[in-house]
Amino acid sequence: MFNFDFHNPTQVLFGQGQISALARLVPAGARVLMLYGGGSIKRNGTYEEVRAALAGHTVFEFGGIEPNPTLETLEGAIALARREQVDFLLAVGGGSVIDGSKFVAAALCFDGEPWTIMDKGGAAVQRALPLGVVLTLPATGSETNSAAVVTRRATQEKRAFMSRAVFPRFAILDPSKTFSLPARQVGNGVVDAFVHVMEQYLTYPADAPVQDRFAEGLLQTLIEEGPKALATPEDYAVRANLMWSATLALNGLIGVGVPQDWATHMLGHELTALYGLDHAQTLAIVLPSMLRVRKAAKRAKLLQFAERVWGLRAGDEDTRIEAAITRTEQFFAQMGVPTRLADYGLDASAVDGVVQALEAHRLTKLGEARDVTPDVARQALELAR
Ligand code: NZQ
Ligand code: ZN
Repeated sequence: MFNFDFHNPTQVLFGQGQISALARLVPAGARVLMLYGGGSIKRNGTYEEVRAALAGHTVFEFGGIEPNPTLETLEGAIALARREQVDFLLAVGGGSVIDGSKFVAAALCFDGEPWTIMDKGGAAVQRALPLGVVLTLPATGSETNSAAVVTRRATQEKRAFMSRAVFPRFAILDPSKTFSLPARQVGNGVVDAFVHVMEQYLTYPADAPVQDRFAEGLLQTLIEEGPKALATPEDYAVRANLMWSATLALNGLIGVGVPQDWATHMLGHELTALYGLDHAQTLAIVLPSMLRVRKAAKRAKLLQFAERVWGLRAGDEDTRIEAAITRTEQFFAQMGVPTRLADYGLDASAVDGVVQALEAHRLTKLGEARDVTPDVARQALELAR
């Protein structure tokens, strides 16, 4: 296991009714900007509950943050926050609203053009406005991590930054607020969380049995509970377990002291930037082929994954590995997220498009061994057609 420094300051309030805690969590006297998306929070009661909890506070609102939030939209929130001298941000929504709010929080304390925050992955970010979160979509883990992904529409760039300054102060996770999710977003959330675990687990053995077994437990929970959320959408226990799984998948815990991959995510971000696919759709396309193309380097962990997660013990090693990858594909399909480029109307030109974008963005040495070159990326995408 490598050396590590584990730091996660986000306070989590989990369960039905926890939104009322906003009254005491948001500092009295704060000038609050509440940020949200396209309106789902108004249809499922979250908006009303948040406003009621903040009845004693000064609250401004910025709605309309879109999935895969754009710089162009967020500039409006930055301007509003400046104009009203806001000093606390409250993100109410899914990963896109939370990520967008992190970007706004950093931009408000940043000297220079906001988009340059993305340079060197956010290394220049020193400070940010305090941020709280009310989560409505379990998927990204953004509610308790320090990462944000924003798209610049003008240049079709989707880029991430990380900074301790943007860890949320608190995150409220009320599973009942996820009952209203469309099936597509339920599937997306489960696939995204699954792939987050895989990016930190499916590399090479690193003498880290605790991280491995946490990861395997999260994968098994997602496999067991995910289909139940589609079959019985109002089952609170199922939603609660999915929500907690997605948070733990990317709050830093399972990633400490172990090698991490993230090549699937980097290809996926280019697919979204170019063709507008949902984040999880891109992962469902890329991950299985990535695993097949990099089978030799990932052999030991693929065998462990086959045995411990899918219970595959029979047959020779290659048979078990292929069966585990096929089971993974079938699971994504079962969650309603197809795994081929063609399923989304994309052909060979998308392979060229993504490879060119990776080169243009200098993402030419990806993965835990930095051996995912544009050529390897091409092989994976070809296999995913
Ligand atoms: O905009 P509204 O009307 O709220 O509708 C949203 C949106 O259309 C809807 N929704 C959310 N909660 C709902 C709901 N509909 C009904 N009931 C509810 N309770 O769902 C749609 C998708 O929302 P979005 O926030 O875009 O989804 P998600 O949470 O999957 O976030 C995706 C974004 O997060 C980034 C992705 O790249 C993408 O931009 N990621 C962020 C990460 C991070 N910060 O650590 C890591 C991830 O790998 C990922 O890259
Ligand atoms: Zn993701």
